[in-house]
Amino acid sequence: MRRDSDTPQPAGSSDVIRIVMNGVTGRMGYNQHLVRSVLAINDAGGVPLSGGRTVRLEPVLVGRSEARLRDIAERHGVKDWTTSLEDALETVRDGAGIYFDAQVTSARYPAVRKAIDAGAHVYAEKPSAASSAEAAGLAALADAAGIRHGVVQDKLFLPGIRKLRALIDGGFFGRILSVRGEFGYWVFEGDWRAPQRPSWNYRSADGGGITADMFPHWTYVLEGLFGPVETVIARSVTHIPHRWDERGARYDATADDAAYAIFDLAGGVIAQLNSSWCVRVHRGELLEFQVDGTEGSAVAGLRDCVAQHRGVSPRPVWNPDIPNETLFQAQWQPAPLDGEPGNAFRLQWEMFIRHVLDGAPFPHDLQAGARGVLVAELALRSSAEGRRLEVPAP
Ligand SMILES: NC(=O)c1ccc[n+]([C@@H]2O[C@H](COP(=O)([O-])OP(=O)(O)OC[C@H]3O[C@@H](n4cnc5c(N)ncnc54)[C@H](O)[C@@H]3O)[C@@H](O)[C@H]2O)c1
Repeated sequence: MRRDSDTPQPAGSSDVIRIVMNGVTGRMGYNQHLVRSVLAINDAGGVPLSGGRTVRLEPVLVGRSEARLRDIAERHGVKDWTTSLEDALETVRDGAGIYFDAQVTSARYPAVRKAIDAGAHVYAEKPSAASSAEAAGLAALADAAGIRHGVVQDKLFLPGIRKLRALIDGGFFGRILSVRGEFGYWVFEGDWRAPQRPSWNYRSADGGGITADMFPHWTYVLEGLFGPVETVIARSVTHIPHRWDERGARYDATADDAAYAIFDLAGGVIAQLNSSWCVRVHRGELLEFQVDGTEGSAVAGLRDCVAQHRGVSPRPVWNPDIPNETLFQAQWQPAPLDGEPGNAFRLQWEMFIRHVLDGAPFPHDLQAGARGVLVAELALRSSAEGRRLEVPAP
């Protein structure tokens, strides 16, 4: 393994935990996990632990391209990087550190499996594997190995969703009736404007598809806030049949780029979620959930959440014969946030570090990750078979 310097830690410095980071040349691995989480945590002095201790994070970058790893390491002053996963795992063997995986989904299983076999603690992007069988297999192996494990469930840590959760916890809604989620934006095809997402997302053989990508998110949001998913009916489609890749080459888009789904939740809540990379945005945010309950309603996005209580709900009257002068969106009140907004990925990283080193609770484990993969898989089957499917209880 390449090590640019072996500077000893000064006496009295904080504890250090090594984190092997695989996939840091990618969008998520670099922006959200390396720069905005791990390095930002170190810039702020580390993660505070119990007993007044603090731990700093020591990334070991691993990937396929030596040149790209060296470039990132030099730009950010990271000491260790390697193209050998095996060498990297030696540094975190038997609970000595954490293996983190933000590779393309199709590459996740074999790498995470090696990390579990080495006895490293494991943290992974969603989906935790390309199939529910593999995802459940990883969860079982990790439990059997006695390691600590987690899966990224960043949406739960967003300020908008935290505000929504506070309203639910405070009983604001009365009986919750329905959840309507709208996610999406136009992803350029790549012929005349560069696409904003990697091309593998649009090829099913490479683990792409919006259902596999987004339904793990919807599963933990719905189950974390409203209750277990009991059934799913979905229509997953490929609206745009051809796209152009990173090198400008035209390819067949074989994966679904939009999914329209309805979920029954335990307790009777109906959730309807549209996910699309083929929709132009006429919304406050790229993701919005509207929740309607007997006592009140709320609309939550990534950052904001507004609410309207039963007692102050205006009385809309249907009359298209006169111009509409009602500013409906102005009739809602902002919901407050307790605490700092923070970066959602970083907040979950800090929670996972406390789980590994302090034994703090961490419900977002590989079992929870596997459930999201299962729901996505059932949604795709529902679409292929044209029928509603039951989702086994968690
Ligand atoms: N939590 C979230 O909100 C969120 C958002 C987007 C993506 N993701 C997940 O993060 C993971 C990475 O997505 P991304 O958008 O960063 O992708 P990306 O294409 O930008 O990055 C992929 C990374 O995997 C590496 N890789 C390893 N084997 C590869 C192979 N055979 N082919 C191509 N790349 C390979 C690449 O070098 C790169 O570092 C995916 O599993 C995706 O589902 C999560």
